[in-house]
Amino acid sequence: MFEQLIRQAVNNIKDYTPGKNPSQPGVVKLASNENPFGPSPLALAAIAKEAKNLHIYPDQKSLALRAALAKQLNLHEDNVIIGNGSDEIMQLAAATFLKPGEEVLIPGHTFSLYETFTHLFDGQPVVVDLKDKEQDLAAMAKAITQKTKLIFLCNPHNPTGTMISAANLASFLTSVPENVLVILDEAYVEFADAKDFPNTLALVKELPNVLVLRTFSKYFGLAGLRVGYGLSSTELVKYMFRVKPPFNVNRLAQAGALAALEDKTFLEQTYKNNLKGRDYLFTELDKLGLEYKKTQANFVFIKVKQPADELFLQLMKQGVIVRPLTSFGLPEAIRVSIGTKEQNKKFIQALALQKAQAAG
Ligand SMILES: Cc1ncc(COP(=O)(O)O)c(C=O)c1O
Repeated sequence: MFEQLIRQAVNNIKDYTPGKNPSQPGVVKLASNENPFGPSPLALAAIAKEAKNLHIYPDQKSLALRAALAKQLNLHEDNVIIGNGSDEIMQLAAATFLKPGEEVLIPGHTFSLYETFTHLFDGQPVVVDLKDKEQDLAAMAKAITQKTKLIFLCNPHNPTGTMISAANLASFLTSVPENVLVILDEAYVEFADAKDFPNTLALVKELPNVLVLRTFSKYFGLAGLRVGYGLSSTELVKYMFRVKPPFNVNRLAQAGALAALEDKTFLEQTYKNNLKGRDYLFTELDKLGLEYKKTQANFVFIKVKQPADELFLQLMKQGVIVRPLTSFGLPEAIRVSIGTKEQNKKFIQALALQKAQAAG
């Protein structure tokens, strides 16, 4: 009965497809690029301590966390806005800047919420296809029109793990008019180790129309806590603050994220494990003769030789949950998060068994 009541925009939005959660103990989830070591221990301790204050509303400006981030990133706290996950900052940016009918450039086969929030605020998504599974900045520059308002870039790119180099990004930005907002989603930036990966903090200082998004969900192991942040010019941040629900980041989230920032042992373990796991997976995938993309993130994009949905079910039977990329429009590929040594091994064994069975 509500069909007539909803806004057209809501009709345009596709349901979000999340990674599947394990239904039994012992099942390994490598589907959502979460931290395989669990939450940061320092965050857990800070959350336990903060719990006694839960009868009091949180700081609506997340001042302590913004100050700590600003200090670490060498920015001013007024360049920082905290969200209930970086998802919320995307939504805030669209709510603040997008006018009905304005165009939003989005890479093909990417994180689905860029399109969701574009529709939500009656924007017009303009999807620019990937080239060789990488974001095609030349095509994106050509796609800019008078109506373009926002541009989403994802670096490293989910789900392919590929990156935009510093030089390519700098050159692209020269073709973006000042009145177009560029949202650089860096959900996986902490895992990148390429020398020519862009330093976007310098860009935030130089270009008032750049908004960098980062998250505590992956590297810091706090996906369930929901904390992400945006870095931009003080002016853009000021307007987004107006739109932000006052108490969007709860007390436990603010305390946990603040502590996680300082959890050097955990973060180092996470980083090193990812690099080792990445090398291991590359070697084993080569042995299995499977095509994959060199990744700068904590997941690997793998082209598979059977429908991804089918492989997903078969791997699940062996206790490994991966992400079939059908909902990304790539039904011939899966994305696997880099896990612990044991988890990676379990995935490779399951994949090898699957290959042997398929060969007959
Ligand atoms: C590219 C990208 N951006 C943003 C997010 C969302 O992060 P958050 O948990 O901070 O909302 C994800 C999560 O999977 C992601 O892959």
